[in-house]
This record gives sequence, structure tokens and C-alpha cells, in this order.
Amino acid sequence: MSIFEDKMIASLADLHLPLLEWYDRCKREMPWRGASDSYFVWVSEIMLQQTRVEAVRAYFLRFTAALPTLQHLARCDEETLLKLWEGLGYYNRVRNMQKAAKIVVEQYGGELPRSYEQLLTLPGIGEYTAGAIASIAYNIPVPCVDGNVLRVLSRITANSADISLPAVKKEYQVLAQNMIPAEIDLPASGGRAGDFNQSLMELGATVCLPNGAPLCDVCPVRTRCAAFLAGNPQDYPVKPAKPARKTVKKTISVLICGDLVLLRKRPDDGLLAGLWEFWNADGWLNRDELTDQLTQQGISVTAVHSLKKAKHIFSHIEWQMQGYLVYTDKPSALEDGEWVKLTELRESYALPGALKAYSKELERWVQQ
Ligand code: ADE
Repeated sequence: MSIFEDKMIASLADLHLPLLEWYDRCKREMPWRGASDSYFVWVSEIMLQQTRVEAVRAYFLRFTAALPTLQHLARCDEETLLKLWEGLGYYNRVRNMQKAAKIVVEQYGGELPRSYEQLLTLPGIGEYTAGAIASIAYNIPVPCVDGNVLRVLSRITANSADISLPAVKKEYQVLAQNMIPAEIDLPASGGRAGDFNQSLMELGATVCLPNGAPLCDVCPVRTRCAAFLAGNPQDYPVKPAKPARKTVKKTISVLICGDLVLLRKRPDDGLLAGLWEFWNADGWLNRDELTDQLTQQGISVTAVHSLKKAKHIFSHIEWQMQGYLVYTDKPSALEDGEWVKLTELRESYALPGALKAYSKELERWVQQ
């Protein structure tokens, strides 16, 4: 039995009309909208899973200027790839994109397959991304249900099922699938499955806002929204509270020798796998403790300056960082460490966003 009553499902059959009318009038301009190049749709959708539209614009333009086609992505060396992704986080996503691009070049003649099921077989492409590529690039009538869409649909249907449950998500997928009427995909109407999906996402991102702040006054479907009519849209969607994040204290030490900076490569698995980082240690070390640890590792410390504290929030943990700028007179070799020129660091090494506060501090110091 569905969590949605048949009557509710039937009442949504023509909701695409006001949604598409609103979408045509109000959609935000985005560099990947319009041209329905499947590679551009893919890149933008993966980036949009990580950050907001406004932030994605610049990343998208930089990425596609450097790697204008899927073939370029398949051939790109890993350091360049990570550098292009710098700041977006979740670096395994771009690594998976490259794995998928190689498969597409080898098995599909260089073009993402025009099939939802085949898209799903590629690394890093789950139901949401397969739905987005299939519908936006190829107008295949399949749904793509992200957090925005779940919020919009849970309010329209005033449904209190817990959206964090996979079985409930599945039901929303079926509902969204049923809302894409066959006729909007007739070639004569230009094929609008992708626009329909985007209208739901766009409504969620710009009008049907989370955290109790929906802009119902400007919503094109408010008179069809059961939660609006009942006066409690802020009560949806229903989901369990997230467990509190674990906090981890760290000491970040930016080591400098002339125009060289010490970088270390992180292990190939785990958090921020394979990225470069400044020397760091767990816990908050004071100057003496830090100097002791560095000396034990063979670094001769000549000066230590305190940097400001910073924090970075990952999905499950929060780093609370204390920083130092440390001068040494010899670029001693360290395990997994590499002394690199500051100019090279800027151009070629991908540092995680978590350390951005300290790369900024470094720039501030060297400019003094
Ligand atoms: N969020 C993720 N993908 C989107 C899209 N194509 N349009 C609007 N919002 C989105």
C-alpha cells in the first residue's frame, strides 16, 4: 500500500502545468541550462550535490573551460583534476566521474548512454544523477528526487512519512514519476521531462524553502498544496533529528623554508583521501609542544607565530583548528612530505577546503 492515497495521486495529474509555466518565467539563469549537453548536465549535477547554485557557477565555468568534453575528463591527470575540484569537497565524486568517463569512452563511444538503467551502472551515478542526466539532457521521462523535491512533494501532499527512510524515498520517486505526464515528452512539445524535474527542484531551492521559511505568497502551486491549505507547511518534511557531530581538535602548522612550503599527502582512503595538507597533529598543541614534535621529526624550528583559530564542518565531524606558521632554515625530508614552491602550491596542488583558512593566512604572511 502506498503512503499516498489514490485521490491525492490523481489530484496531481495536471500539476506540471502551473509548475512549467512558473519555471519558464522564474528559473534562474545557469551556465549549463539551455544547452542540453549531457556532459555539462552531469558535471553541474554532481557539483550541485555539494554546494549551492550561486557557488557552482564559478566552479562549473572553470572546470568546463579546462575540460570542455567528457574525453578531456577521461584523459586528465589526477592532480589537475583535484585542483579543478578544489574547494568543492567530496573529492571521491570527481574521481568517480573520471572512472565513469573512461568507461563511457571505452564502451559508449564517448557519449553518456541514453538510458537510465545504463547510466546507473556507471561509478558515482546513483538514482538522482541518472534521473537528472536522463531527463535534463535526453528528455527521458524519469524522475530525479533530491532533498528539495522531497520537501516540495511532502508539503504538497502534507505527508508525514519519514523521508529519511529508503522505502519512503522510493514512494516519492514513484509519485514524481507519475507526475511526468507522457504528453509533455512528445517531440512536438519539445520534450519537457527535464524542465518538469527542474521546476520541482527550482521551486524547492527558491520558494519552498527549508527550515520553516517557505515563501508561500509567491508559490505557483500554493492553492494545490495540502500543507499550505492546512496552514502548516513548516511541519514538513518529517525526518529524524541528525545526531550531533563529533568535534576533533587539530593543530595545523604551516611550515616555511624560504619560498618553500611543506605539504603532506593524505592516505588514499578515509577523509580527504589523497589530498595535500599542511603538517598537522591531533589535539591543540602549545608552542613548546609543537616545537618538540617538529624537532623529533627532524625539523629545526627557527620561529613560531600563532595563527587564528578556524573550524570546518564535514558531514559527520567538525574540525576545530588552531594554527601556527613555523619557520625552519632547512627543508628536511619528512615521510609523505614534499617541499613545494609557493607558486606551485597555488597552481597545482589541491588543498582541502578545510584548510582554506590557513592557506589564506599563509598568503597574508608572505605578502607582509
Ligand atoms: N539542484 C540540483 N540540480 C538542479 C537543477 N538542475 N535545477 C535546479 N536546482 C537544482
